[in-house]
Amino acid sequence: MCLNPTFAPDLNNAIKHGHSDSRLIAGRVVAYCEGSTLSNKSIEQEPLRTVVEASLGFSLEQEHNPHQLESLLQELQRQQSELHRQNEALQQAHLAMEKLRERDKLNNLFVEYAPASLAMLDRDMNYLVVSKRWREDYSIKCPDIIGVSHYQVFPENQQVWKTRHLRALSGEVMRGNEDRFERPDGSVQWLSWEIRPWYASDASIGGIIISTEDISKHKHLEAALVAVDEKRQCSIGQELHDNVGQQIAAIGYQAKALEKILFASGNREAATSVASIASQAQQAVVQCKQLAQGLLPFEIEGNGLVAALHILASRISSAYSIVCDFICENDVLITDMNLALNYYRIAQEAVHNAIHHGHAQQVSLFLESAGGNLRLVISDDGCGLIAAPAKRSTSSGMGIKIMHYRARQCRAKLKMSSRAQGGTEVSVEMRAD
Ligand SMILES: Nc1ncnc2c1ncn2[C@@H]1O[C@H](COP(=O)(O)OP(=O)(O)OP(=O)(O)O)[C@@H](O)[C@H]1O
Ligand SMILES: [Mg+2]
Repeated sequence: MCLNPTFAPDLNNAIKHGHSDSRLIAGRVVAYCEGSTLSNKSIEQEPLRTVVEASLGFSLEQEHNPHQLESLLQELQRQQSELHRQNEALQQAHLAMEKLRERDKLNNLFVEYAPASLAMLDRDMNYLVVSKRWREDYSIKCPDIIGVSHYQVFPENQQVWKTRHLRALSGEVMRGNEDRFERPDGSVQWLSWEIRPWYASDASIGGIIISTEDISKHKHLEAALVAVDEKRQCSIGQELHDNVGQQIAAIGYQAKALEKILFASGNREAATSVASIASQAQQAVVQCKQLAQGLLPFEIEGNGLVAALHILASRISSAYSIVCDFICENDVLITDMNLALNYYRIAQEAVHNAIHHGHAQQVSLFLESAGGNLRLVISDDGCGLIAAPAKRSTSSGMGIKIMHYRARQCRAKLKMSSRAQGGTEVSVEMRAD
């Protein structure tokens, strides 16, 4: 049974011809309905009775068992309270929905304006939300990428990234400090990144979150720094060789000439002093040449890294009066000049640090190549890194930073540690796999 409540306030008029019991019950219907929140009272009198009868499901003219009406009324009340209950539940759900929408809006705003490149994707790799920075970092022109596939936005997406996405979709959290991301125009973006899964309320993986930082500028600065360092070393080397060295050599020649004159004039004492000046000048010329050679390692081009490291070790031994050996037990043939130069410079810096900071008396250089791997180890017997950690962390020096950069250039790993027996060990290793 369904009572159309719109007509309830005027029910009294409609039922005045009914059976007395029916009228009594119907009167209660009216009273009940009047208590409800009805408002429409503009009812046409004529069709009203028909409608009320249709609503009650029986004619008001007929005799009716009051019990039948009573149960109809009960049913009506039951339906009314059920309706009321459903209404309340609906309102609650509506409120909860509103709250969720509000929270979603806030979350989206939070992600959008986060000072980081962030993207949240569903299991099919379609975008759910991205930050402003994400669009900027990847020059995404499309105004709305929400719902669009990541692979449609980045058609160049390489297999290595796809594999990472799949791994994250199966629950893994992955990070990288610096990775190449090649763009379709051939340019390369350097990224530090993290990919992790996100979980839906039923604890299943709903998709992934990718956060990246474009470190390309940082990489270019690093490269510029190394280029400046290389240029500085070369120009100092050239200056030492072509200018300072020549001038000292000239002083040596003049002192030699003066020595002869003084000797001939019988001034032996002065002649001896001038001879000493001449010989010191000669030694200084040799040292200048050695220094210049160190700064301009031409031997790398001629005989390769092994020869250059040999010469470096013997030059260090004689210049600093310490023991400096070079050990290389197998044939090492490096055709990549850049790789050889980077390894050589790392050795040079590590040896100078060992002497200047570690005050080492013995430095060893060890080079080995096996199965395509190239490993260089520089160890010293100095004070070690632990002895000067504060100094190291506050050091404005660039040597270690440049060593790391050079290693990365060769896709090699550089490690620095204090040795258990004292001193420091620097190792750089490039693996073929
Ligand atoms: N072999 C070593 N033994 C002891 N301390 C070391 C050694 N190598 C590096 N250090 C420490 O690390 C610090 C940083 O070294 P780094 O080469 O970066 O800078 P630097 O030598 O001070 O300056 P630069 O190399 O730019 O001329 C040094 O100041 C020193 O405290
Ligand atoms: Mg240094």
